[in-house]
Amino acid sequence: MAKLVIEGGHRLSGSVDIHGAKNSALPILAATVLINGVCRIENCPRLSDVAAAVAILEHLGCTVTRDGHTVTVDATGVCRGDVPDNLMREMRSSIVFLGAVVARTGGAAMAYPGGCELGPRPIDLHLAALRRLGVHIEEQGGRLRCYHDGRLTGCDVTLTFPSVGATENILLAAVTAVGTTTIYNAAREPEIADLCAFLTACGARIRGDGEGTLIIEGVERLHGCTHRVIPDRIETVTYLAAAAVTGGSVLLKHVCPPHIGAVMPMMEEMGCHLTVWDDELLMIAPPRLRRVKTVRTLPYPGFPTDAQALLMAMACVADGTSVFIETIFDSRYRHAGELMRLGARIKTEGRVAVVEGVCPLSGAPVECTDLRGGAALVVAALAAEGETVITELQHLERGYEALDTALAKVGAVIRKDEETV
Ligand code: EPZ
Repeated sequence: MAKLVIEGGHRLSGSVDIHGAKNSALPILAATVLINGVCRIENCPRLSDVAAAVAILEHLGCTVTRDGHTVTVDATGVCRGDVPDNLMREMRSSIVFLGAVVARTGGAAMAYPGGCELGPRPIDLHLAALRRLGVHIEEQGGRLRCYHDGRLTGCDVTLTFPSVGATENILLAAVTAVGTTTIYNAAREPEIADLCAFLTACGARIRGDGEGTLIIEGVERLHGCTHRVIPDRIETVTYLAAAAVTGGSVLLKHVCPPHIGAVMPMMEEMGCHLTVWDDELLMIAPPRLRRVKTVRTLPYPGFPTDAQALLMAMACVADGTSVFIETIFDSRYRHAGELMRLGARIKTEGRVAVVEGVCPLSGAPVECTDLRGGAALVVAALAAEGETVITELQHLERGYEALDTALAKVGAVIRKDEETV
């Protein structure tokens, strides 16, 4: 079993280059299915989820090549609309291929993505919207069979919740539909804006009011383009949290500070000093963090649910008691139990968690429960006395490229022991 071994208590200092955003790269790769031509996606992170997206593209008939952080997709040869079950299981967000595949090929067959580490992840909003655009959907035995007769037709869709995945699926189905589609209460995450920028560069006609309304005028054909993926805002928060719990300082390069506009005030409340220059961010942490009063997760521009576990790891070693309210997912505190193995004092009830800071934590064997929960364990381990051994690393590999080497470069005592038979 591969494991990360971290000896805590070393102050981090230095600079880290931030990669492209996983949650932008994935829907953009799915969108390439729509394009009759070659797309060059730059700043595409090297992650297992991206590899799964590439495997889906190849299965559908695309030719995909990778050169460093650039992925080139030629979707001219798309010849089928089914996605194998193992690839659907490997990456739950593979449902974002649905809108693109059904629009391009006229039909799609894939397994229902099902529940996951964050609690149930229904796709009712995706399916209701696709039906309005003219997709016939049959759901049987945990599988979806989708088809349409001719081109999809634009319509008005009001989302009851600004779901990121549903907004992406509607965009992908609507850009080549006949007529205009208007999405009300669309998600406003930066990754949605990035997907719109990519599609627009391919010839799509999309307008937004910046307040949750997206207007898509369908076009007949899209052409290839070169697009650079935006920086990963959650990877950015991860390195800030990692340096903060060690009383350290870190300079993050190639970041987009406005994208973490809801996180920076929380870090400042905890005593961190942040300085922004264009695409660089310097954080200097105090010797001991202060508590943060309340962290309430919300759709963008609110505090991101993906950063909740990271702030919780900071709160575990802060002076005072912090309160967390998770409003996006039903079950996103599984990391709390693992943080408690390191000595953290956390009480959870439903969507609320109360964290009483302790100093110091102490090293122990722990398991990643999910991607961001795993990152929170790494952060807590950096602050803990003694050695922490973290297993179930496949979760981390879904969303962090070279996490161990980047942390080692800024002074962490960390090593990755690969699987031995
Ligand atoms: C995206 O997931 C991200 N994944 C998640 O990042 C992120 O946590 C989430 O958005 C919220 O920001 C990708 O972009 C690949 P949602 P998604 O649809 O699209 C409910 C990470 O760690 N809902 O906005 O699945 C749903 O159950 C990951 O990188 C419905 O009820 O999120 C949840 O409670 C994990 N019906 C809420 O909406 C639907 O049809 C938010 O889900 C769709 C969603």
